[in-house]
Amino acid sequence: MATATKILVEKKKLDKAPLELHYMGDRVLRQPTKRIARVDNSIRQLVKEMLQTMYTSDGIGLAAPQVGIHKQILVVDVDWENAATPPLVLINPVIKSFGKEIAVAQEGCLSIPNVFLDVKRPEEIEVSYKDENGRPQTRRFNDLPARVIQHEMDHLNGVLFVDRVDNQLAMTEALSKEGFSVRDVKPVR
Ligand code: NI
Repeated sequence: MATATKILVEKKKLDKAPLELHYMGDRVLRQPTKRIARVDNSIRQLVKEMLQTMYTSDGIGLAAPQVGIHKQILVVDVDWENAATPPLVLINPVIKSFGKEIAVAQEGCLSIPNVFLDVKRPEEIEVSYKDENGRPQTRRFNDLPARVIQHEMDHLNGVLFVDRVDNQLAMTEALSKEGFSVRDVKPVR
C-alpha cells in the first residue's frame, strides 16, 4: 500500500508565483484539457505550484488551464485564512449530480482581474475525482465550495464565468472598464 503523501504548502504569499497566470483573451483558456492517467510526483509538484500560485494571487480556486497547462486539475481553498485546513485538490473531476436549488452569487476569476459579476449555479453538487494521492473520492459540496468547484471545472472545459453571466449590461461595463474585450465572451446555452 502506498502511504499518504502530504502536499505541504504553506498558505502564504511568495514574492513571485511559481506559475504564470493567463488572462481572458488568451486562447489557452479556451482549449480542451486531458485527463490525467497517473497521479505521480510530477503531478503532485504541479499541484504544489498551483497552490502556491493561488495563495500568492489571493485566489480561492485555480484550474490548470489558467497557468497554461491542459490537464484536468483544479485546486480550491475557501478556508485560506486557516492554516490547518488542507486545500481541496480535484484531479479528473466529474459532476455526478446537481442539487435542485439554484443560487446567485458574485464571482471573480484570477484570469479576469477586478471583474465581479453575478452567476447562477446549482447550490449543491456531488463530484467524483482523484485526490493528490490518486485515490478516488466522491463528495458532496454546497454553498461556496460547490460554486468554486463548478467555476474551476468550467475552466477545464474552456468556459469562463463571464460566459454564464445573465446581465449583459453589467458584464459589458465591468469588462470594458478593465480593458477586456466583450468579443472574448462565449455565452453558454
Ligand atoms: Ni476562474
